[in-house]
Order: sequence, then structure tokens, then C-alpha cells
Amino acid sequence: MKIDVIVAPTLLDEKTIKGYQCAVIDVLRATSTIITALVSGATGVCPCKTIKEAKTSVAKLPRGSYILGGEEMGENIPGFDLGNSPFEYMSREVVEGRVIYSYTTNGTGAIRKAFEKSGNPVYIAALLNLSAVSSALVKAASVDKFEGINILCGGRQGQPSEEDNFCAGLMIDTLTRGLKACGIAPRLGDTASTVANDALSKRGRSLEVLRSSEHGRFLESIGFADDLIFASRIDFYNIVPLFNGEMVVLP
Ligand code: MLT
Repeated sequence: MKIDVIVAPTLLDEKTIKGYQCAVIDVLRATSTIITALVSGATGVCPCKTIKEAKTSVAKLPRGSYILGGEEMGENIPGFDLGNSPFEYMSREVVEGRVIYSYTTNGTGAIRKAFEKSGNPVYIAALLNLSAVSSALVKAASVDKFEGINILCGGRQGQPSEEDNFCAGLMIDTLTRGLKACGIAPRLGDTASTVANDALSKRGRSLEVLRSSEHGRFLESIGFADDLIFASRIDFYNIVPLFNGEMVVLP
């Protein structure tokens, strides 16, 4: 089975992803925050392509039924209820039973693009749930028919990001071992091999990787150092969120 990584949404084209099973990663911070919100009991997370789309989507909804959340270039968005720090989504009192309409600079658009171009539901992954999503992908590969597996990284402003590549590389390693154990031969694309080799050379140093990344340094500079510590926790959660085209839910 073909397995590859797309290191930024700008590099995604329909030919490389149509019919593939996709997982989207945005460690800092979109997917880490979506995962956290679902663990805290959010009904679902709607990833929006624009701030306007997010605001329009909630315009006619009852006020207590939703949360408008997200960021633009790391900062809170005027008129939104919450930003994009995972810590803002940890309280059940705040998120339980609510749908979160989220816009973030890179991550939410990447999720939508992966769904539109692959034609399949999309797994939402981060370091926080790396093994859970990898196992779900292996399970899906052993029962379903799809072209292959592609991991799409949210990246940063159209460019690859160190933290997403690191997470993708570790997932490739876990996936490869899982597929082999099920008797499925993985065929890695060059990008998949490259990010996996790089990630394995840094295994066990995830916080260091996040702290040295461009976006990690930026987030630290604007007061979000704790977000890096949280997002660096590998397998902190055992959940597999799926974007079904409408919202990210726990199936
Ligand atoms: C994004 O989508 O670019 C982000 O998740 C940025 C952030 O929240 O720091």
C-alpha cells in the first residue's frame, strides 16, 4: 500500500490524494486543540475556511449551542468567543454539548481541503493521539479498499513546519510497523521516508522539536509556551476524531 506525506496544503493536488485515506496534522495548534475539545465533550468541531464563513455559520444558531473559536496568525479573532489554545477547551463546563466553529490560519483549511480532494472522511491527528490514529489507519487499510494513505501537514503559511513533519514522521514509522504486522506491504513515497528518518533521529525529544520550530518560537514569544508543553505529549489521548465533511466528531 502506498503511503506518503504532503508537507503543506499548497503541495496538495487532486491526483496525489484522490481516493486516499487521509490524516491531517497541525500540532501547533489546530488539531491538538480540536482533539482536546472533543475529549472535553464538544459535540463536534466545524473547521471553517474563513472567518466570515465561521461567523455566518453561527448567525442563526441559538447562542448557547455553539462556540466560535480559533486564531489568525496566533492571535485571538475579534468577535470570537475563544482563541486556539488547547487549554481554553479543557473545561467541560465551557465546551460540553456545544459545536465549535473554528477558523485557524492553516489547520482548518487543510482539513477541508483534504476532505474535498480525497473524497473520503479525514482523520485528525497530532502528537496527542498519534498511536490511536495510526492504529485506526492500519485497521481501515486491512478492511477497506482505498488507494493508499496520505498524511497532510497543516504547515505554516504554505510552507512545511518542523513540528508537523516530526509528527508525520513518527506516524509513518508506527503505520509501517502496523501494516507489516497485518501482512500489508507499505510502499513509502520519498517524502514519507525523509520525514520518518528525520523524526526517528529526534524521537524522545518532542518538546525540544516544538520549541525549536519557527511556529513554536513564535507562540512562545506571544505567551503560549505552555501550549507547546501540552502539544508535545505523545499519546496523551486515545481518541480518533474523524471529519465527515460537516464536522469533526468522535465516531
Ligand atoms: C494554524 O492553523 O495555523 C494554527 O493552528 C496556528 C495556531 O493556533 O497557533
